[in-house]
Amino acid sequence: MNSGSPILLFDSGVGGLTVYDALREVLPQAPVIYAADLAGLPYGTKTEAQIAARVAGLLGRMAERFRPRLVCIACNTASTIALGMVREVLEVPVVGTVPAIKPAAALTQTGTIGLVGTGATIRQAYVDQLEREFAQGKQLLRIAAPGLVEAAEAKLRGQPIDPAVIADVHDRLVAMPGGANIDTLVLACTHFPLLSEELAAAFGPGVRQVDGAQGIARRIAHLLEGQSFARTAPNRFVVTGPLSGAAGLEAALAARGFGPAEAF
Ligand code: DGL
Repeated sequence: MNSGSPILLFDSGVGGLTVYDALREVLPQAPVIYAADLAGLPYGTKTEAQIAARVAGLLGRMAERFRPRLVCIACNTASTIALGMVREVLEVPVVGTVPAIKPAAALTQTGTIGLVGTGATIRQAYVDQLEREFAQGKQLLRIAAPGLVEAAEAKLRGQPIDPAVIADVHDRLVAMPGGANIDTLVLACTHFPLLSEELAAAFGPGVRQVDGAQGIARRIAHLLEGQSFARTAPNRFVVTGPLSGAAGLEAALAARGFGPAEAF
């Protein structure tokens, strides 16, 4: 394995940076190419067919161009729908991102878990299966929060967030039957940990947030154990669509060790 060969992290937007941050903790020396499909953002309001075709097609082309040693789909929506298909297409290991229901079920004291994801994620049979497997006897209350995707994108560009968007997520969850008992919140979209402070303020100190970023980073490190890494240039941040889509992200990218955004 060429030590300069990158890890490719893929998301519809900046959400996968939460996985990137966790990955840098465990593999600081690994070269990374982060790909944001800004031309396809948001995924959460698209159909399964649209998401599967888009993600498999783009990742095929990206893998050809960047020759990664591993691909991580740092997006719950894309992973819960297209992970199997992408694994069939690519020859390198592919790591997905799935809602952190298992750790949440282990943490909850009240037995009531809130799950916030995109519309496309929360309706997946994959999520039903995780619920059956890991949250037997617990109550899992799911809501879609597309406004949080937009808010996270805005926050990383230094733009203000509408507090009503955060309040709405809280109010809708708590208003569900049993919602007042939620003590654990699954952030089932990689964008949402970027809003963890705002969510903590809305839900209060009694509600813990759980996401998959650390677990995914550990999984990647495990799969690449024994390989050598040599980064010779800053990590790369590439976007689909016009480069102007990355305007405003300069500070967030520089703080994370990326060079200037590039068009795919
Ligand atoms: N970041 C993505 C996820 O993890 C989805 C955001 C979107 O494109 O709707 O679900």
